[in-house]
Formats: sequence, structure tokens, C-alpha cells
Amino acid sequence: MRRNFLILSGLLSAAVLAVLLWSRLTETDGGPESAGPDTAGAAMVSVTVPELTGVALEGEALFRENCATCHGADAAGRDGVGPPLVHRIYEPGHHGDGSFVLAALRGVRAHHWPFGDMPPVEGVTEGDVERIVAYVRTLQRANGIN
Ligand code: HEC
Repeated sequence: MRRNFLILSGLLSAAVLAVLLWSRLTETDGGPESAGPDTAGAAMVSVTVPELTGVALEGEALFRENCATCHGADAAGRDGVGPPLVHRIYEPGHHGDGSFVLAALRGVRAHHWPFGDMPPVEGVTEGDVERIVAYVRTLQRANGIN
């Protein structure tokens, strides 16, 4: 009995240590400003980026500033952080443009992914999000998501 208990508590502290180490690693790996593909939170899907012009180009800059920390460079997602928006789930028929505005202004309760809630994004206006949507829709179309 006693031996079993010792083995069990040994295993338990090993598990706790592993979890601590893991959260430590994922914490220090790539700060909030580093959404590059070579940091932790690697891209979850591969995205072909078409030539961007006009509103979509403005949207790209706004996306990089406000969304890429979680949704990744080129909206390709960041493993363990946030989902790719270039994904069938977010095609116009499932998530209309209005859901992007709501997401940015009010936040999102986690329901599709295991990443937790999306907090409201401070400092973006509805107009900003409309540009971001133009950018994301352009990426989606270039990657066969309509
Ligand atoms: C702090 C991290 C974070 C930031 C910053 C962030 N998001 Fe999100 N976002 C998430 C997560 C996590 C989810 C997935 C929630 C779920 O499980 O469905 C999500 C979901 C979404 C959705 C889906 C909404 C729905 O109705 O299901 C949209 C659209 C979205 N984000 C757009 C944006 C835009 C646009 C920006 C920038 C203005 C942004 N996000 C910034 C983390 C973030």
C-alpha cells in the first residue's frame, strides 16, 4: 500500500513538473509580438498569399497589428494560441462579415477550438474590421474557401 502510494506521488510530481516546464517553455517561446512562422505557435495551415491591393492591403496591416498575435501570420493560425481564419469554418456562409465585427468588438467565447476565449480587441473600429474582413476573404478565396 505504502509503496504504491510512494510510486503514485512520485508519478504525480513528475507530471506536475512536466506541466510546469511545458508552460514555462511555451511562455518564453515567442512573445506576444512575434507571430513569425519560425517562432512557437507555428502556422496550422499553409496559406497561399495572393497579390493584395487597396482595402485588402490596408486590412493586412491592420490584421498584423491587431490579430496576428493569435491568428498567426497570413491568418494561418498559431498552434496552441489561436485558430486559422483561412479555414472552412470561417467561410462566408458559416461566419458572415458581421461575425468578424462582433468578434473584434465583443470577443468570442471558445466554442470551435481548445484555445480559450478571444478577448475584445482594444482600439479597433468597425471600419478597421471591415478592412480586415476584406483581407481575410481575399486570402480565403485564394485558398479555395468561398
Ligand atoms: C488574444 C488572442 C486573439 C486575438 C488578439 C484575436 N483573436 Fe480572434 N479568436 C481567438 C480565438 C482563441 C478564437 C476561437 C474561439 C473558438 O474557440 O471558437 C477566435 C475566433 C475568432 C473569430 C470567430 C468568431 C466566431 O463567431 O466564432 C473571428 C471572426 C476572429 N477571431 C477574428 C479576429 C480578428 C478580426 C482579430 C483582430 C482584430 C482577432 N480575432 C484577434 C483569439 C484571438
